[in-house]
Amino acid sequence: MLYIGVDLGTSAVKLLLMDETGKILNITSKDYPISFPNPGWSEQNPNDWWTKSVEGIKELIKNFDKSQIAGISFGGQMHGLVILDDNDNVIRPALLWNDGRTFAETDYLNEKIGRKKLSQYTANIAFTGFTAPKILWIKNNEPENFKKINKIMLPKDYLAYKLTGNHCTDASDASGMLLFDVKNRCWSKEMIDICDIKEEQLAKIYESYECVGNLTEEAASLLGLSTNVKVAAGAGDNAAAAVGTGTVGNGNCNISLGTSGTIFISSENFGVDDNNALHSFAHADGTYHLMGCMLSAASCNKWWMEDIIGTNDYSSAQKNITNLGKNNVYFLPYLMGERSPHNDPDARGTFIGMTMDTNREDMTQAILEGVAFALRDSLEVAKKLGINIERTKICGGGAKSQLWKKIIANVLNLKVDVIESEEGPALGGAILAAVACKEFDSVQDAAEKIVKIVDTVEPENTLVEAYDIKYNIFKKLYPQLKPIYKMMSLN
Ligand code: XUL
Repeated sequence: MLYIGVDLGTSAVKLLLMDETGKILNITSKDYPISFPNPGWSEQNPNDWWTKSVEGIKELIKNFDKSQIAGISFGGQMHGLVILDDNDNVIRPALLWNDGRTFAETDYLNEKIGRKKLSQYTANIAFTGFTAPKILWIKNNEPENFKKINKIMLPKDYLAYKLTGNHCTDASDASGMLLFDVKNRCWSKEMIDICDIKEEQLAKIYESYECVGNLTEEAASLLGLSTNVKVAAGAGDNAAAAVGTGTVGNGNCNISLGTSGTIFISSENFGVDDNNALHSFAHADGTYHLMGCMLSAASCNKWWMEDIIGTNDYSSAQKNITNLGKNNVYFLPYLMGERSPHNDPDARGTFIGMTMDTNREDMTQAILEGVAFALRDSLEVAKKLGINIERTKICGGGAKSQLWKKIIANVLNLKVDVIESEEGPALGGAILAAVACKEFDSVQDAAEKIVKIVDTVEPENTLVEAYDIKYNIFKKLYPQLKPIYKMMSLN
């Protein structure tokens, strides 16, 4: 049988077709626009997600036997707020995970309700990108829209609704709403009251590998598929990526270099760090994970390459970079503010350390290194919790770069295991669909059978030492700049 994985990303939807042995038969991708109506805001139209997913699925399966397609599932950009009216029409564009407009609501939740209570109710504190502050922002700034809300959904769940007619979500993605009691995997009554909503407005919760329904007649005829096709709940993109890289079980790590950058640590047991610097979320295999998320990772490199130096040729731009561990230029990758571990929507991208002999390669290298240093910030938090990580998987667009993988291995002092395919969330989505269709006994069983490591990038002692010195400089920059970023945000 065949399975479709849908990775509903920030810049595009990526679609992947997998057979029952885990072999990837086809991949397609469709871009859609993102709008930044104000600095630090970011929005997308859920109807673009739907129309582009339909186009992409049709293209993906065009040359395959459609009667063999058994299941569809997702990895979706997390935290986005999709609101539907009584007729299930989208009320306004979705506010995305990297939208920083909710600083007042985030402050209200963290300071007035209090971090301790939030952590007790949900295992997490408020970050501007999370869904609950967005709901409060709509209430405070668009009361007319707030009144119209009948259903509150996450991005990939809107696709599941269009495919099945059911309002559903999964535990991993629900974890990022700040409305979900992660430990007990149910909605938090306290948070529902705090956000002035009702439980009926939220979707029904499933595990990622559970079937939420079959294709409706309408969706089936639109896609040229049968109504026997099952749709599985799917997962937030990071949990789906973890499935797609085999990061399941206890103490395993995955780094995702997509628009965001994340470091994901799987755990069989529920746990919260005292400062909530790492997110404590449910995993797509029915267990838990800790995660640090930086808001701009491969997107910093894309911005630098395409918008600033004006080229699409990433490999030529990186081929002369040999100066590892010796660069005196630093880049703070805070182009959309920063989430983990600083939780600061005012932080901004910053180059520092240039001299008259600095060249384009040094600046490109600083971008790749700045992202690696920022990921290390989250790894350091995990180390302080006593978590000992020696190796990581890697996925996302940035993982295509051999140079970037080498920088990551040495800055974080981790062995970086490279998987056959870097399509983490889309592959994870297809695996979840296969588990829902009983092709495998469990997510862990499927991941073990399907995911193959093809290479390992080993850290080298001299580079690790050189990067340690550089990281100790990098980590002193943000605290110095923090008050300046604040001043800049007030002007
Ligand atoms: C995770 C997060 C991002 C988005 C990107 O908390 O906000 O990784 O899921 O799609």
